Amino acid sequence: METTIKQMILFGGSGDLSLRMLFPSLYFLARDGLLPNGFRILAVSRSISASNDFRDTLKQALVSQIPTEYFDAGCCERLSSCVETLKLDLGQRGEFVHLRNAVRKRESAGALYYLATSPGLYGATCHHLQSNGLVDDSSRVVLEKPIGYDLKTSRDINDAVGGVFSEDAIYRVDHYLGKETVQNLLALRFANIMLEPLWNRNAIEHVQITVSETVGVEGRWTFYNETGALRDMVQNHMLQLLCLVAMEAPGDMGADAVHGEKVKVLRALRPVEKNNVKTNTVRGQYAAGASGGRVVPGYSEEAGGEKSECETFVALRCDIDNWRWAGVPFYLRTGKRLAQRYTEVFIQFRAVPHSIYPGMTASELKANSLVIRLQPEEYIRLIMMNKAPGLTADGIRLQPLPLNLSWTDAFQGARRRIAYERLILDAIQGNKTLFVRRDEVETAWSWVDGIIDNWQAVNMVPQSYAAGTWGPSSAFALTERNGHTWHE
Ligand code: BG6
Repeated sequence: METTIKQMILFGGSGDLSLRMLFPSLYFLARDGLLPNGFRILAVSRSISASNDFRDTLKQALVSQIPTEYFDAGCCERLSSCVETLKLDLGQRGEFVHLRNAVRKRESAGALYYLATSPGLYGATCHHLQSNGLVDDSSRVVLEKPIGYDLKTSRDINDAVGGVFSEDAIYRVDHYLGKETVQNLLALRFANIMLEPLWNRNAIEHVQITVSETVGVEGRWTFYNETGALRDMVQNHMLQLLCLVAMEAPGDMGADAVHGEKVKVLRALRPVEKNNVKTNTVRGQYAAGASGGRVVPGYSEEAGGEKSECETFVALRCDIDNWRWAGVPFYLRTGKRLAQRYTEVFIQFRAVPHSIYPGMTASELKANSLVIRLQPEEYIRLIMMNKAPGLTADGIRLQPLPLNLSWTDAFQGARRRIAYERLILDAIQGNKTLFVRRDEVETAWSWVDGIIDNWQAVNMVPQSYAAGTWGPSSAFALTERNGHTWHE
């Protein structure tokens, strides 16, 4: 596809996301020759230094973020020479005139406005861009999550941004979709024939999606305390993973086809009700404990003992009311300061219908399962029953063993790309498949709002769990109630 984007205007250009993720991604795109010729970056922020000084900051950031074996000083130099800065307070509309001058003095090619700022500024920023004549048919805007705090605020943001840019020009980021392993979920499902006949309620008993982190809230206490795990992780990343696991095959990999299938899954999610919110959801908050071999403080202690009812852990049972998934529980679980860091999709298949082995019932034959580990390791394991070697007087012995597909082994030496490399490249090229459409965001918020409303209605406060464990005991009860156990 021919690209018309020649400049990226990066709001929040000196912020943490920009220095840790966006510029390193741009570095790799530049190194791999994937940026358009003559591409320029204008880093905008209230506190940014002059271009020359910022280039030093940028170089330091690249040196610290890019693994030594991939660091190329020449490429770093080339990237920094494409970067200029502009000091601008987004809250001050009068200052946009400086932006106008800076953008207009460049080629008249399309602009990619990347808003790595607080979502509260999205609407006003887009409005000021428009009123300064900085938006035309070739302009695009990229929005970071969170798009709002609930359905209402997300609609407000979407309305405000949508009043300036058409939906086609709005790129809502969920960085999980930029991860290669997450894209591989689609390849696993739709580039292979073997799984599809089994990928439904007839063969699958339940599904688990776990995104567990060992870190705490890492200096983001104030933001996190108003957000919580449900809004921070489930409304976006985890529901996106659930969609990729549960959706029907799209007609093609185009944005409309893929987004259309994902939104059907979100619409089929059964709302959590007041009378089942206590059985179908778990809220937790970490207390002091041990993580990575050291003693760590509890969530409240991190803010000087301030009491809080914010959840740092959430586990849910979800039901997808459609033909494919009726009666198949989808368990989601995420939290901070858990025992281990990983992201995994686990598919538990049903047991064989009848055992031919003496002394073993069908349910004693371990049912097949599929483990799709997305990070930090990247592998797929299909657990199958096998005959264990050896002779015994009372018949053969069976044992579950994995069929193993390890991406690390299969693609030795391949660099794990930063999720934003894919996303920035796609935004430049106008490919929206891996971004999130407005109706997806709002349908997800509507479902999540239902849970939060019912937590309030039944006064469901987070239960405590020790840092370094797998969350509160009720998380185990959530699956055990149905005869299932978390895969760990
Ligand atoms: C972010 C959340 O969206 O995703 C963070 O705000 C979380 O709280 C992060 O730590 C996890 O992303 P990743 O890529 O490290 O799994």
